Amino acid sequence: MPTTISIKRPFDGHLHLRDGDVLRAVIGETSAVFGGAIIMPNLVPPVVTKLDAESYRARIAAALPGGHRFEPCMTLYLTEMTEPDDVERAYASGLVRAVKLYPAGATTNSQSGVQSIANVMPVLERMAKIGLPLCVHGEVNSPDVDIFDRELVFVETVLDPLHRRLPELRVTMEHVTTAECVDYIRASGANLSGSITPHHLIINRNAILAGGIKPHYYCLPVPKRERHRLALRAAAVSGDPRFFLGTDSAPHTDSSKECACGCAGVFNATNALSCLAQVFEQEGALDRLEAFASIYGPAWYGVPITAEMVTLVRQSDPVSFPCEIHTAAGPIKVFDPLFPLYWVVARRP
Ligand code: DOR
Ligand code: ZN
Repeated sequence: MPTTISIKRPFDGHLHLRDGDVLRAVIGETSAVFGGAIIMPNLVPPVVTKLDAESYRARIAAALPGGHRFEPCMTLYLTEMTEPDDVERAYASGLVRAVKLYPAGATTNSQSGVQSIANVMPVLERMAKIGLPLCVHGEVNSPDVDIFDRELVFVETVLDPLHRRLPELRVTMEHVTTAECVDYIRASGANLSGSITPHHLIINRNAILAGGIKPHYYCLPVPKRERHRLALRAAAVSGDPRFFLGTDSAPHTDSSKECACGCAGVFNATNALSCLAQVFEQEGALDRLEAFASIYGPAWYGVPITAEMVTLVRQSDPVSFPCEIHTAAGPIKVFDPLFPLYWVVARRP
């Protein structure tokens, strides 16, 4: 087994950086290792227009630690008021790489999201025409749909009809959590892809619910049964370019997770690449880590693939990571994969 591997700097296909104090505290965790990321727009208020994205991008650039090179690839939050011309201008200027669809009420700060796909068809048609990808939080959140079935029901009742109606639209099913969604993407053509998080490769629903409620493993879509985790692993290491890394690192302060109605989100930026290396080693697929983490994501989004490298070293003893990071808003727990990590990023660009 190799003890050192060098890969192109990874690209995070799905990242929450938040704003203000939390942005300043978390961004360096990602930018120390990753060369760029698709930045989620679910701020309060959300990043809806080209102007919003310009100003958020400037705040991210200002928060970057000195010496870090990092490309924030901006997204727009799709609402039923979104104007096709504004989206096209944002894409043409190079500022925006994707538009994000949150079904209204499905997850954190999704209140301004979409009630009905029919109401955003003009925007989606324009995106299909210009080749701009739609990032999707793929869950149907009506109260009559069981939380463990929400992704599957989305695939059947929203994604499939949309894909049939507008097959030219490029769609990323983000943070895929089910074997059925993996199969759907596999069976589709080149215009559907899926991002996969490190935590959904590592935990199943037992991590949240067995032996007491563990709020730091609660995220959306909620991790499913073991067979789904195994299907995600198989997709991640398959070498199929339609599956790539999106960490969905989603910081929430401990106090907003450890309470009667805790927020959804796992903060994994600090150890995401070490976790992934461990998973790929367990799967005997370290030779495919670079493609999954550093090539397929930027290729899908049309982001130039970096020439910069990072080196991972496998240590003989487990590596310790900080359990939490401190922010002016309070501490934020770092994802604990529940197994020892041996890979550490030894050389940064
Ligand atoms: O667990 C999640 N956290 N899933 C999401 O879709 C949103 C995210 C967040 O913003 O906290
Ligand atoms: Zn997310």
